Amino acid sequence: MNRDWLPRAVLAGIGVPLGILAARACAGLLGANPIATALNQLGLLSLALLVASLTCTPLRLVTGASFPMRIRRTLGLAAFFCGVLHALVYLALDQGLAWRALVKDAVARPFIALGVAALLAMVPLAVTSTRRAQQRLGGRRWRRLHRLAYLAGALAVGHYLLRVKADVTEPALYGTVVALGFAARLIRGRSRRSGTASERRVGGNLEATSAREEKLQNSP
Ligand code: HEM
Repeated sequence: MNRDWLPRAVLAGIGVPLGILAARACAGLLGANPIATALNQLGLLSLALLVASLTCTPLRLVTGASFPMRIRRTLGLAAFFCGVLHALVYLALDQGLAWRALVKDAVARPFIALGVAALLAMVPLAVTSTRRAQQRLGGRRWRRLHRLAYLAGALAVGHYLLRVKADVTEPALYGTVVALGFAARLIRGRSRRSGTASERRVGGNLEATSAREEKLQNSP
């Protein structure tokens, strides 16, 4: 079977909640405050997808399975797409495209500023998600740049944390997953630098696998 089926299946799966949300919006079934419902559901979907994309590399490191790397890019781009939709609903429907109001809101409510920062941190990731951009930057610089995804994750978790105020269970769970993923990357980086010859060989294999997988996930 064509190896492209997995990212496509994931994309189709992501289309389900988006389709349901659009259908409910068209049918007027989003409750008493439809804008807030759409805003919150898109925000949650974006965060869940971003966090899922951040678990791909640690999952590969722990299990050795290659499938997470085949869907990482799809998950990251879908997170960005939902984040843009989320921001557009806020800007266009909630604020009536009043940019000044957005700036005022960002200053008055730090959680809005964190949301804007999270989305901005995702822009270079989305722009450089193609294979061509990866080749232009070179593998090492590309990987370094894509560590921004952890910053975007942390900012998005902060945005959610400040927004919920009372029950912080859900944002704390997302935050824990982001922190564990980041820790796994740090530990791998450290063991590569200070490892024994055999560790270096494993690291080298992982690097080669990573390059192959990045090639795989960026193939059309
Ligand atoms: C320009 C950027 C953004 C703006 C202006 C923005 C604004 C907002 C606003 C106004 C709310 C709803 C607050 C309320 O109902 O009181 C919200 C909620 C939320 N946003 Fe954002 N946001 C942005 C980016 C993001 C991004 C990039 C993510 C995720 C990666 C995100 C995730 C969330 C989540 C998880 C919620 C809470 C959902 C819930 O409580 O069910 N936001 N955001």
